[in-house]
Amino acid sequence: MSLRLGDTAPDFTQESNEGKIHFYEWAGKSWVVLFSHPADFTPVCTTELGYTAKLKAEFEKRGVKPIAVSVDTVESHKGWIPDINETQSTAVNFPILADSDRLVAGLYDMIHPNALANLTVRSVFIIDPGKKVRATITYPASTGRNFDEILRVIDSLQLTDNYKVATPVNWKNGDDVIIVPALKDEAELKQRFPKGYKVIKPYLRVTPQPNK
Ligand code: BEZ
Repeated sequence: MSLRLGDTAPDFTQESNEGKIHFYEWAGKSWVVLFSHPADFTPVCTTELGYTAKLKAEFEKRGVKPIAVSVDTVESHKGWIPDINETQSTAVNFPILADSDRLVAGLYDMIHPNALANLTVRSVFIIDPGKKVRATITYPASTGRNFDEILRVIDSLQLTDNYKVATPVNWKNGDDVIIVPALKDEAELKQRFPKGYKVIKPYLRVTPQPNK
């Protein structure tokens, strides 16, 4: 069965270009973006992994570790990485799991045979420090993902974990947010949102982002 939001992310031990990865141990107390790509030496994947490397500072700022996976071998990954570095003007700085026995692909249901036979599709799992799956995104092989969107989702998760707010359509870090409808007590509203809030409808109340 596929993983659902709130499920525990399965632990595993698998080879990578950086050596054997014991997933929980490697993740430690960080957030994790575990993302699969169909195959090494393919054009869209080359751009995705290069862009991910360039986001190193953005991931670090948020306490997030990225880790890629495909069903290729360690030797294949090691052969491909110089191409990513050269063509995307970067240096790959995160592990790429070599899942040739399809262990991780099976645990995370990353092979969708009606879309792509025997290869992982473009799955993304955002996993919190408690090892819970907090968001999933699935794209087909032909569509490169938007890694800025992945950062945006992490920003929303980290904000809404700490404040009684939700983030509206197309929200970006720094924009106004929505107060959760369950919060009704006037005194608590004033205490939690000292910058004030606007009531558009009783269920639609907006406030400046509390941690800015
Ligand atoms: C790509 O990364 O370009 C790709 C991989 C598999 C199928 C189609 C495109």
